[in-house]
Amino acid sequence: MAQLVGLIVTDDDDFKKHVGRLLRSSAIPVGIIDDRVARDPAAADLVIVDTRGDASSAMATIERLRAGAPSAGIFALALSADPDLILQCMRAGANEFFPWPPSEETFHGAVRRTAARRETTQGSRPAATTLVFFGAKGGAGTTTLSVNCGVELARLGKRPTVIVDLKPGLGEVALFLGMRPRYSLLDAIDNLHRLDREFLRELVAKHKSGLEILGGSDQFDRPGATDGGAIEELFRLLARQYEYILVDAGSQINSCTVAALYTADIMFLVANPDVPSVRNAQRLLDRVRQLGACGERVRVLLNRAAEPSPIPAKQIEGALGHPIHHVFTSDYKTVSNALNSGVPLALAGSSEIASQFDAFTRRLIDPAAGTEAPPPPARRARLGLERLASLW
Ligand SMILES: Nc1ncnc2c1ncn2[C@@H]1O[C@H](COP(=O)(O)OP(=O)(O)OP(=O)(O)O)[C@@H](O)[C@H]1O
Ligand SMILES: [Mg+2]
Repeated sequence: MAQLVGLIVTDDDDFKKHVGRLLRSSAIPVGIIDDRVARDPAAADLVIVDTRGDASSAMATIERLRAGAPSAGIFALALSADPDLILQCMRAGANEFFPWPPSEETFHGAVRRTAARRETTQGSRPAATTLVFFGAKGGAGTTTLSVNCGVELARLGKRPTVIVDLKPGLGEVALFLGMRPRYSLLDAIDNLHRLDREFLRELVAKHKSGLEILGGSDQFDRPGATDGGAIEELFRLLARQYEYILVDAGSQINSCTVAALYTADIMFLVANPDVPSVRNAQRLLDRVRQLGACGERVRVLLNRAAEPSPIPAKQIEGALGHPIHHVFTSDYKTVSNALNSGVPLALAGSSEIASQFDAFTRRLIDPAAGTEAPPPPARRARLGLERLASLW
């Protein structure tokens, strides 16, 4: 989604095209609204006024725009940098002045300043949603679920979506997507002071689904105990750039995963239907409560569910004191094929488990859409899922 809304006020089509291209090529996405909306200049964050014709009518336009959109950045473009004209423009209410044609670098610098000013006055928009996946135990499927959900979110939601691999040493997010990012989240947390949009763009790798990846560290001891604060700051900065932030937090509680849990809008606790998973999930839920993170934000995901279930889903819910939010069936062949080929499930052809990710993600994008239709009874019986499906 565009961070800024731009309006170009001119009668000259070439001017409009040129400025439009400049705006579109800015590191900060700018949506351009039509001149007709000039009647409501308050809709714009950024107004570019052509003052190359009649100076007095241009000043009147700037004054009118300034009155209508007090917080917008107004850019005046003139034939030359005439000091008198610059003064008039500034007095009328312009924030920036450029001789025609403006240099790309200075123009983009001004766009960045406008974005920064708008953010200070209005706060960033829209709010990011942070989804943290945490395993009740190693191997529960945390990476499988976070990666495939990330791909579906990017593909279906078509919003800026990033996945962060928080696991120290040998995180597998990029591997699951068949990618080799040049940089990792360590490059991000070690350079927080200059982590603006452009720098971040250098650090992330982009998957063809649209999902961006902030790769896992290749150091076994980092991110470590002393990196918790930096990780929290990283999430704050990511929230300015992305609408969805997914985190593969592994299955160890440490200062970094705690930072992620605090930031999370939803914490997905990934468990398998077996005794170690359920026991650990119980303990983790207790720990989350102790940490003061809101327990209501926790959603239990049951992965690798199969019939006959070693522990009935109702018993799992009873033991956890928490409902199961979603069930992913066990399909080792499909999941491991996807993993080994580096092709996420959504892009690997149709399968039951891929449609489960589709349903799960649609519900995330639009919770108001309600629960998805259950599979037809015959299919349910074939999958032996009646008991689990009744929990949806
Ligand atoms: N729904 C599923 N059905 C069958 N196999 C699955 C399913 N989900 C995950 N697996 C398999 O389980 C194994 C572990 O998955 P994954 O790496 O996602 O778990 P993890 O919790 O991230 O593990 P780690 O603790 O090592 O990070 C993989 O071999 C994967 O193919
Ligand atoms: Mg993993």
